[in-house]
Amino acid sequence: MPTELKPGLHWVGVIDWGIRHFHGYELSTHRGTTYNSYLIMDEKIALVDTAWTPFQEEFIRNIRALVEPARIDYVIANHAEVDHSGSLPALMRLCPNAELVVSKRGHESIEGHYHQPWKFRPVATGDSLSLGRNKLVFVEAPMLHWPDSMFTYLTGLNVLMPNDAFGQHYATAFRFNDQVNQQELYEEALKYYANILTPFSKLVLKKIEEVVALNLPVDMICPSHGVLWRKDPLQIVAKYQEWARQTPERSAVILYDTMWEATRRMGEAIGVGLAAEGVPYKLFHMATSDRNDVLAEVFKSKAILVGSPTLNQGLLPTLMPVLEDLRGLRFQNKIGAAFGSYGWSGESPRVIEEHLAAAKIPLAAESVKAKWQPRPADLAACETLGRKVAAAVKAG
Ligand code: FEO
Repeated sequence: MPTELKPGLHWVGVIDWGIRHFHGYELSTHRGTTYNSYLIMDEKIALVDTAWTPFQEEFIRNIRALVEPARIDYVIANHAEVDHSGSLPALMRLCPNAELVVSKRGHESIEGHYHQPWKFRPVATGDSLSLGRNKLVFVEAPMLHWPDSMFTYLTGLNVLMPNDAFGQHYATAFRFNDQVNQQELYEEALKYYANILTPFSKLVLKKIEEVVALNLPVDMICPSHGVLWRKDPLQIVAKYQEWARQTPERSAVILYDTMWEATRRMGEAIGVGLAAEGVPYKLFHMATSDRNDVLAEVFKSKAILVGSPTLNQGLLPTLMPVLEDLRGLRFQNKIGAAFGSYGWSGESPRVIEEHLAAAKIPLAAESVKAKWQPRPADLAACETLGRKVAAAVKAG
């Protein structure tokens, strides 16, 4: 059901309460999501972004509640990823004369997804499009988070529609930030940033500076997922600046997998050492923990300790996804250490250190390994490792 946001500006998106995995199965979405789309009714009619394909009928019903799609003059596709562009084929069949406004890279990616001879209108930063009373101004935002990403700003109503930036995977009964649980909202906003935007943090800072320098008044920030920032809308911009600087808390996370509890006991002993030095930590069994929730904790923390028993001269495979994310998400300002039990050859700490090196996470202390079940001396070495890492956390 559409929601009027301001006179002439309507949310016509879809709430997806049921989705629990996004990007296929790459990203967990415990609280569902929304696919936000905005209909602007001026002398010309414009629609900003669409919804994911399985929701196209509901999405088009929402538009029809306000206007016949054939009357739409412009469809703005800020980003080609299918959660926002998936309803384009169904929509464009209903408004074949509408121009499809895209960034230059968006032209390439939308064409590449749908292979349709739509009336593309590529735009660049600073280009604008008059709708009558108000106009749309476009700002390319490459790598926030795809090369094609673009922000659209609506003058007069002072609304920024930045697509994925400032979004959250958060299905809610109400549309605005001041109507929802603030702790849930910020948990989802941070998880979204940590899992999607972290590698582009320098670009986030630059883009915010660039947009601020345009001196555009911003009454509302309307991202493509989750709630819309109406109350103190720049609070999320300030949060993004803070997150993009990647200044971690003085805390640690211990990620491990275990076969017969030896590596678990080592991880717990490391925790004793960290806590004894006053450094808070969280310990995650990666075979049973949600990887994306863990990455949000990694994002917040200074130290990352990773443990695995040696299996087939390497690691338990359950650790590989999070190690791949440590590399790909390019976390900054971290320190790391490795540990693990073994029976015969004992390569696992060295292999973990190689992964930490690939993630450009420097080691804070030498690794600890224990043969078979750890003896008291092994557990004491783990506790010492925890104390050493704690000292480095506090020094950092
Ligand atoms: Fe990059 Fe919400 O899609």
